[in-house]
Amino acid sequence: MNQFASDVLEGLSAQPKRLSSKYFYDQKGDELFQQIMALDEYYLTRTEYSILDQFKGQVLDQFKSDDKPFNLIEFGAGDGYKTKVLLRHFLEQKANFCYMPIDISSNVLAQLETSLKAELPALNVTPVCNHYFKALEELKEEKERNVILFLGSNIGNFTEEQADSFLKGLYDALKPDDILFIGFDLKKDPKVILDAYNDKQGVTAAFNFNLLDRINNELGGNFNTSQFRHYPVYNPMTGTTTSYLISEKEQTVEIMDAAIHFKAWEPIHMEISQKYDQAMINGMAEKAGFEIIDAFTDDKKYFMNSVWRK
Ligand code: AVJ
Repeated sequence: MNQFASDVLEGLSAQPKRLSSKYFYDQKGDELFQQIMALDEYYLTRTEYSILDQFKGQVLDQFKSDDKPFNLIEFGAGDGYKTKVLLRHFLEQKANFCYMPIDISSNVLAQLETSLKAELPALNVTPVCNHYFKALEELKEEKERNVILFLGSNIGNFTEEQADSFLKGLYDALKPDDILFIGFDLKKDPKVILDAYNDKQGVTAAFNFNLLDRINNELGGNFNTSQFRHYPVYNPMTGTTTSYLISEKEQTVEIMDAAIHFKAWEPIHMEISQKYDQAMINGMAEKAGFEIIDAFTDDKKYFMNSVWRK
């Protein structure tokens, strides 16, 4: 049995039921996430883009130490839409670096490489198709100074424990003076946040349902997605947005040889998207051992890009 199959069966046999959002990103999931990023309600991508565009000069100043070559290593590179603002500026400034995008989706990486060749032919690119934690081990082999990009508030998909252990693992894999440039979605008007995960067109709902379709297609499941409801909630105390798919009636779903029983209105926990405030960001950096050396935000204070140094 592959990892996907065993994770799905374990999660749906657990109480409460859960699936991992890392499995959202098959080819259809990649397409749906592209559509999410273009939604009016989904402010994250647009806001972070504006921060990077406004502060790209100061960002480069933080990244380069003298003119020594550096590796610009991006976790969860995606389509590179935001990163290209930085890459273009860095090339114009004749910065001495190699771009190493890391993504778990080989499909996304191949598209990114093609578009980079066309748009930024002078760029030195080495794509890495791997999970974050596998990629971290390879990092230890790097001789050059490492600058890690972890944009998009991707860290928000981790629980607090997972985030802390990821950051600690990253810290241990880095050399003194290496840099982490990390994006955080900030706490804000709860309605703005909830709308971003509950868009009118239902693209985010489709993004969640796609994982049930994926289970049907790849594991021979028989989910009827029309009998589930997408239900995101935002908790202003903790800053956690949680997305559920709720069974609208009692039913049994078969996946491989397993029968998964749902009570009426029983939820599956699908994803968390954590929102942060300054105290949380400071606490995370400190716990992992990093020093915060700079930070950039937008006028509305919706999003923050923070520069951490080992
Ligand atoms: C890619 C993790 C930043 O949590 O906002 C978008 C994924 N999920 N809509 C997020 C997502 C639902 C997104 N991240």
